[in-house]
Amino acid sequence: MNPFNINEKGHLTIDGVDTTYLAKKYGTPLFVYDVNAIRNNARAFVNTFKELGVKAQVAYASKAFSSIAMLQVAKQENLSLDVVSQGELYTALQADFPVDKIHLHGNNKSYDELEMAVKNNVGCIVVDNFFEIELLSEILEQNQTSMDVLIRVTPGIEAHTHDYILTGNEDSKFGFDLSNGQAEKAFLLLNQQKNIHVKGLHCHIGSQIFETEGFVMATKRLFETISKWKQEHHYSPTVLNLGGGFGIRYTEEDDPLPLSGYVEALVAEIQQQVDQLGMDMPEIWIEPGRSIVGNTGITLYTIGSKKEIPGVRKYISVDGGMTDNIRPALYQAKYDAIIANKAGQPVAENVSVAGKCCESGDMLIWDLELPTVNHGDLLAMFSTGAYGYSMSSHYNRFPKAAVVFVENGKDKLVIKREAYQEVARYDLSYE
Ligand code: LLP
Repeated sequence: MNPFNINEKGHLTIDGVDTTYLAKKYGTPLFVYDVNAIRNNARAFVNTFKELGVKAQVAYASKAFSSIAMLQVAKQENLSLDVVSQGELYTALQADFPVDKIHLHGNNKSYDELEMAVKNNVGCIVVDNFFEIELLSEILEQNQTSMDVLIRVTPGIEAHTHDYILTGNEDSKFGFDLSNGQAEKAFLLLNQQKNIHVKGLHCHIGSQIFETEGFVMATKRLFETISKWKQEHHYSPTVLNLGGGFGIRYTEEDDPLPLSGYVEALVAEIQQQVDQLGMDMPEIWIEPGRSIVGNTGITLYTIGSKKEIPGVRKYISVDGGMTDNIRPALYQAKYDAIIANKAGQPVAENVSVAGKCCESGDMLIWDLELPTVNHGDLLAMFSTGAYGYSMSSHYNRFPKAAVVFVENGKDKLVIKREAYQEVARYDLSYE
């Protein structure tokens, strides 16, 4: 983890800024992002497409971490944006994100959501189901306008990842099935509407995927359909969106490819298929979330109580937990961490890191090797930049944590810590 170094005091730094200083200034739990690392990840995707000479859009999947500052960085890096809700779309509009580069997703888009997207002229809607086609047609008719769409299909590919985050297999709530003619029916319905332009197809096979085989197989399945539609309906897509899901390293057990590796494998397969069919190379769109922000953020926690069960385990408890990072409890996700104020010190004990919520399952890390831990020490948990803050909750009425961006040695608060009054702000009295 290159941007994270140790200074002469033995403290963990991010882009030159001492994490103990950040904890003191902003409090804990605190999310800290290295903005240059975000930019580097974005550029790795964008530049690989450029080097391969392929027209592309890299749409940041904002569900991984959405905030006005984050979307401003995405905008500065010329990314497009994947939003899946009115809230994510609203945040994008607040960040002044170019609307023509916003793509709206969702398996149950409401009338209001679709209308907001239409009225704001988003670049593309990824159509997911037949009900949505009805709603969208009605809204376009009413607003006397048109829309570019992609058809989301489920290619029936099982990616090797945790069951909860599989979205591309056939028994899925997302998209139109390729195998039973649903996708084709949707295409014919959409294609006959004068105010809808079918730009192409979309699929997303899962998340935190390390092998390229899943993406290659999904591409092959898409091209079986494209070949059929080309022959039978004289239709060739101008866009193919292969979704996100590129895996990152959380612990030593993970062995991801460099980001360019995923893009190269995808482009090579698409090029081969395109050549076989004798069609023009479509624009390739991808939607990375985790791989843009995951490794660029850490969470700082203050260590409080310590409990030892002799011969069994030592627990250390931190001032956050499943409320700012549900991933260990929900997916048994593994993380690595160090004591930020003892970063250079040798390992002295094996501890398990507990969250503060009133729930036994609120454990952040099992069996972590650390220097001797005392209360008041600062725990830095790595790779929490994706699906940490964005999935945080108010369980036990914890206020949401603060988020700080660090760039070129300067720190800036980008999401304020919530106050208790704010947690209870919508409560009304019953007395
Ligand atoms: N596109 C679509 C259509 C998606 O459903 C997703 C993620 C992405 C792109 C971005 O995938 P990424 O590049 O971030 O893997 N909460 C889970 C991950 C859920 C992912 C849902 N869809 C986690 O914390 O692991």
